[in-house]
Amino acid sequence: MRWAFPKPLYYYTTGITIVGSVYLLKDYLGGVVYQTNEHMKDKIVIVTGANSGIGREVALDLAKHEATVIMACRDMDKCEIERVQMVMETRNKYIYCRKCDLASQTSIRNFVNEFKKEHKKLHILINNAGVMSCPKTYTEEGIEMQLGVNHMGHFLLTNLLLDVLKDSAPARIINVSSAAHKRGKINLKDLNSQEDYEPSAAYAQSKLANILFTRELANKLKGTDVTVNAVHPGIVRTGITRHMGLAQYFLGRILINTITWIFIKPPTRGAQPILFLALDPSVKDVTGAYFE
Ligand SMILES: NC(=O)c1ccc[n+]([C@@H]2O[C@H](COP(=O)([O-])OP(=O)(O)OC[C@H]3O[C@@H](n4cnc5c(N)ncnc54)[C@H](OP(=O)(O)O)[C@@H]3O)[C@@H](O)[C@H]2O)c1
Repeated sequence: MRWAFPKPLYYYTTGITIVGSVYLLKDYLGGVVYQTNEHMKDKIVIVTGANSGIGREVALDLAKHEATVIMACRDMDKCEIERVQMVMETRNKYIYCRKCDLASQTSIRNFVNEFKKEHKKLHILINNAGVMSCPKTYTEEGIEMQLGVNHMGHFLLTNLLLDVLKDSAPARIINVSSAAHKRGKINLKDLNSQEDYEPSAAYAQSKLANILFTRELANKLKGTDVTVNAVHPGIVRTGITRHMGLAQYFLGRILINTITWIFIKPPTRGAQPILFLALDPSVKDVTGAYFE
């Protein structure tokens, strides 16, 4: 008599194997999880847009490494909710919410003034906040919103903090750009997209500006032991798509999330390349580079 594999068991094991393989594939596509024992006690870090998405995960991880983390955000209520959760999760009480609306140069200047009153050092600046493909709007100073927040706001913030970064050297600046910069063009004839506003082109322009700024700043910072690099975090499931097509609607988001589930990283994974650049000793002298 031949022994036959019981049918229910066959279906069961096949099902488990398929589900396991899919999860393994998703895990693989999510990229490497950066692990380090680097201690950040006494190190001071600013993360812009730290109340959600990738920025939140970066801030959380740095807090786990005992850094003092300044969450530079525009919405203090949202920021406070996340800060309290992070303090409870990390047992690090040195996490602070400070108002910084990158669409307002007054707000950026106030943030820097307050920061300099409270802290004498800054070891890591993570320019992470961003808007993507929003309707045609302008910052307080009349700059097209994506160029204004993603590039100009961070440009001003970084320049105002350069003195304290140099005083704290070795220090690192990380500009969160995007692979979208590859299709970006700096439209010198209509930089502010006044004549013709195409949301995704304006996003790509702003992200290309991040890369150009990174390169030029690296030249200017030669010999200071302050490095600056740009990074693409991957395609990550966050609120960044809130102005885009179906993703604006609740059911649309469910549909997109289901279809793209396997290919799109969770924010914890999107944070990994930024954490690598912020912490890893192997990149301490690398500057002016783009990572993805
Ligand atoms: N997700 C991706 O697939 C992807 C891919 C490539 C690059 N990136 C880049 O990754 C960065 C983080 O984005 P994310 O995906 O984590 O999106 P997100 O969850 O929407 O986070 C964006 C953050 O930026 C903040 N922000 C927006 N406008 C601001 C302003 N005027 N002043 C201060 N903060 C402002 C948001 O604050 P509120 O909560 O108050 O809106 C939020 O905290 C962005 O630079 C984005 O371009 C993301």
